[in-house]
Amino acid sequence: MRGYSEDVLSEVRAKSDIVEVISGYVALKQAGRTYKGLCPFHTEKTPSFVVSPEKQLFHCFGCGAGGDVFSFVMKAENVGFAEAVRILADRAGIAIEEGSQETREARERLRALYEANEAACEYFQRVLAESPEAENARAYLKRRGLVDEIVGKFRLGYALPSWDALLKALTKNKIPKEVLLEAGLVIPGKDPGSCYDRFRARLMFPICDSSGRVIGFGGRVLDDSVPKYLNSPETTLFKKGKNLYGLHLAKDGIRKESAAVIVEGYMDAIAAHQHGFGHVVASLGTALTEEQARTLRRYAPGVVIAYDADAAGATATVRGMEILAGAGLIVRVASLPAGEDPDATVRRGGAEALARVLADAKPLIDYKLHLAVSSCDRSTVEGRVNAAREAARVLATIESAVERSEYTRKVASELEIDPDALNKDVEAIVRAGGARAEQPGPGGRGGRPRAPARLGAPGAPGDRNAGSRHTKSEDDIARSGEMMKVLEAEKILLRLMAESREVQTTVLSEVGPDGFHDPRHREIARAMAEQTADAGTEGEEGPAAEPSKVIGALDDEETRRYAAGVFLGQAGEGQGDPVKAARDCLGVLREHGLRERIREIEQELASLGNTGEMERSRDLLAELWSLRARLSREFQPFSGTR
Ligand code: GTP
Ligand code: MN
Repeated sequence: MRGYSEDVLSEVRAKSDIVEVISGYVALKQAGRTYKGLCPFHTEKTPSFVVSPEKQLFHCFGCGAGGDVFSFVMKAENVGFAEAVRILADRAGIAIEEGSQETREARERLRALYEANEAACEYFQRVLAESPEAENARAYLKRRGLVDEIVGKFRLGYALPSWDALLKALTKNKIPKEVLLEAGLVIPGKDPGSCYDRFRARLMFPICDSSGRVIGFGGRVLDDSVPKYLNSPETTLFKKGKNLYGLHLAKDGIRKESAAVIVEGYMDAIAAHQHGFGHVVASLGTALTEEQARTLRRYAPGVVIAYDADAAGATATVRGMEILAGAGLIVRVASLPAGEDPDATVRRGGAEALARVLADAKPLIDYKLHLAVSSCDRSTVEGRVNAAREAARVLATIESAVERSEYTRKVASELEIDPDALNKDVEAIVRAGGARAEQPGPGGRGGRPRAPARLGAPGAPGDRNAGSRHTKSEDDIARSGEMMKVLEAEKILLRLMAESREVQTTVLSEVGPDGFHDPRHREIARAMAEQTADAGTEGEEGPAAEPSKVIGALDDEETRRYAAGVFLGQAGEGQGDPVKAARDCLGVLREHGLRERIREIEQELASLGNTGEMERSRDLLAELWSLRARLSREFQPFSGTR
């Protein structure tokens, strides 16, 4: 099934605790029997994302996302089922038999690359710590105010001013030259077969992936020579725009602060960490990418950009901010004092100075308005008209009308122009759809909150009357209310079945999977029956079905998502005894069954009319009376109008 054997799936599932796995993406807080956090799949301010350790399921009451641990990884990593299994297997250290020779070879090559990078990192660190030739590097770091502890934490190192120091040291350690070449640590020389060290006489900054494995390096000269920085070339491991410098050290800080801070330089990130800003990462000197934005989104809803004052004006930087916003992050922009980068700010004014800068960070829209307005000469009428035109274009991108008019008023007063006139211009752009054209390109809006999914949308049942000429009478309304009660009862029943084997046995024997009205409920009930049957236990004795396994057996992702919502639903919670609660729900189903039959009979009677089929009519009437009697005996007095 789905590419892997059941055994493998079971093992991966057993070793992938959903709370642990999701904690790698979302900050979770325990709340009673479940964990809560901000949903990584839509933007929200109050947590409606719930993870159940007992049921090994997650569900978002906001956007309806949900499922088991595999569904989560599929969605979070944007991968298919097979890849999600592989990711979780890797994480749990489970070897999954993968067929082809190539994949095994590719994996082996990857492992060799990691090994080479790690060995190089250790080597550079040792040189920095011990080599007499690294004295100037040690002095340089001291001058820049970095303490040993932080140098160790970021694993800084030094590459000797030599053509083959690393090459010699690592080949002696049995790392093949070909691997060093592939890792970009050495470069092919003129003579065939020869090569030399890429990094020479440079301070070395290892670049790690989010789990802390070294994947490449940045190397800085100790003087003013150029290029100032030399980076590893792109390799299978090291892809620009994929990683963020320092993320492996900043993950916890980002979760704690509910926001990440992005700076431009390695040195900025390191200095910030040294001064207690544990939520800072650096963008590796390139424009921010959607992938980096999505990565950050996994850890926190907010991000503060703290780029050098001058650089921030660049279009590429604004584009980077749009990308962050497009991924659903709440973006703020910090203004550093002119000519300073965050490293300079902490060196000048200490942690307080940087803290103030970060606290004063402005919402992205404020920043864009500031850019639009400040680029124009406001001393002339023409300049102010230009500024107003630029500002109107930015204002038109604000989606909330209230917010838009607030900002419009603010800009108008700043430019000393008529707010009504500016507002007219803004609304004209909005109506023309111009605001859309201003938006970032493909995927730019990806992170917008989606409309809530229809969780309990009733399925086909109850539609038998569709197409009849009835207008929506009181009857129909009562019936749709009744159907909603039924579907709600079914959901509660499914949840109770997963909690108590006794309930499951009772429900399956009284109504069976086919007694459920929603086709998805039928599918879930069937999967549950199969799961306990597979477990080899019959009757009321065995353990209850495991929700995550039930979900795993469902056929499509949409049904799995729906089922997670059912199992983690709160409706009817806290009713105490599950068996009694289930009886009540079964009652709702039985009552509905009676009413349906009554309606059927009434319809048939009406259609018989005066056709003279007296016998049939008499039988139907007899049944009708007995059903009505039963209904009022077993349930509340008959409330119908008939
Ligand atoms: P210091 O000058 O030591 O404070 O370093 P910095 O990190 O502040 O550098 P800077 O602000 O000049 O540049 C920011 C980032 O851009 C650096 O950390 C690098 O990632 C990148 N960068 C800067 N100069 C170069 C270069 O010459 N080549 C490459 N490839 N990247 C660079
Ligand atoms: Mn700097």
